[in-house]
Amino acid sequence: MIRSVVRGYGAALPKRVMTNRDLEDIVETSDEWIVQRTGITQRYIAGEGETTASLGEQAARAALDNAGLTPDDIDLVLVATSTPDNTFPATAVDIQRRLGMNHGYAFDMQAVCSGFVYAMATADLHIRGGMARRALVIGAETFSRILDWKDRTTCVLFGDGAGALVLEAEEGTGTTADRGVLTAQLRSDGAHKDKLYVDGGPSSTGTVGHLRMEGREVFKHAVGMITDVIEGAFEATGTTADDLDWLVPHQANRRIIDGSAKKLGIPSEKVVVTVDLHGNTSAASIPLALSVACADGRIKKGDLVMLEAMGGGFTWGSVLVRW
Ligand SMILES: CC(C)(COP(=O)(O)OP(=O)(O)OC[C@H]1O[C@@H](n2cnc3c(N)ncnc32)[C@H](O)[C@@H]1OP(=O)(O)O)[C@@H](O)C(=O)NCCC(=O)NCCS
Repeated sequence: MIRSVVRGYGAALPKRVMTNRDLEDIVETSDEWIVQRTGITQRYIAGEGETTASLGEQAARAALDNAGLTPDDIDLVLVATSTPDNTFPATAVDIQRRLGMNHGYAFDMQAVCSGFVYAMATADLHIRGGMARRALVIGAETFSRILDWKDRTTCVLFGDGAGALVLEAEEGTGTTADRGVLTAQLRSDGAHKDKLYVDGGPSSTGTVGHLRMEGREVFKHAVGMITDVIEGAFEATGTTADDLDWLVPHQANRRIIDGSAKKLGIPSEKVVVTVDLHGNTSAASIPLALSVACADGRIKKGDLVMLEAMGGGFTWGSVLVRW
């Protein structure tokens, strides 16, 4: 059977770092409160000329370089984002243009913080279905542009950035020894729409709007949703927590990450955490964390890696990958 194998990774961050201390000048908050509740110490904030598409392009180029490929080798550009440069066309076609590609196809996916997991699952289906041989899967966000900078309950949590993977079709045997995506589990429940949303849009207010969140409500549901899809992935593949080399969670909050890992019996040494440095970068957080853990040598070829995320909708999902 065909498997979607990771060939390369890349990441991009805006130039400007905003620390918790910097935030103390903007809203009534403290470094101590933010660190204690979230584990975040700093985040990157896009400046003039830095957009979701420009960060996505940078991450895509880095992933292509890492894979030893060029844009000519890519058939599909898939971008997970909730903060596109324009309402349309898709950020993916802009990145396609920036890469000088006028072949293949490109589109965006919108599943908020679960976007990268949804995009990996979708790219895997396109590759296994034979529509694409090589895909650039990108998570790119500029959440700083939809934050209400007067709302301390949300503006301290998020940051900007982008990450990308190159996936390529490879013949596998159909066992969990294969490299590539082994299973993807996707879920959503729109009943929770109002717990984490943006209060604007083209068809409702005609404005972009700002992020609104009932933080405590999101927190209450998070660990249960995450463990649900990770257990789903174990069940689908006959693997267990002991088989995992790495858990690479969506980086929303240190307490959610630790709570989920503990419930699943995954030791903290196997969990990749970058929320302290990046904040919550929504769909970009998993590929950013992957890039850090690949670059520093933690994630190696053949490792079993679990990706998971939850976010607005609610949406949640996991992808199990043999690296
Ligand atoms: C947002 C979150 C960190 C808040 O932590 P919490 O322990 O639930 O805190 P609460 O919302 O109960 O607020 C506690 C107090 O801190 C205050 N507070 C809120 N934000 C603050 C800030 N940035 N700085 C200082 N105080 C703050 C509140 O006003 C409240 O004060 P009060 O007790 O006087 O009313 C937490 O709920 C959370 O992580 N939720 C999940 C959010 C998330 O990850 N979303 C993205 C999912 S993809």
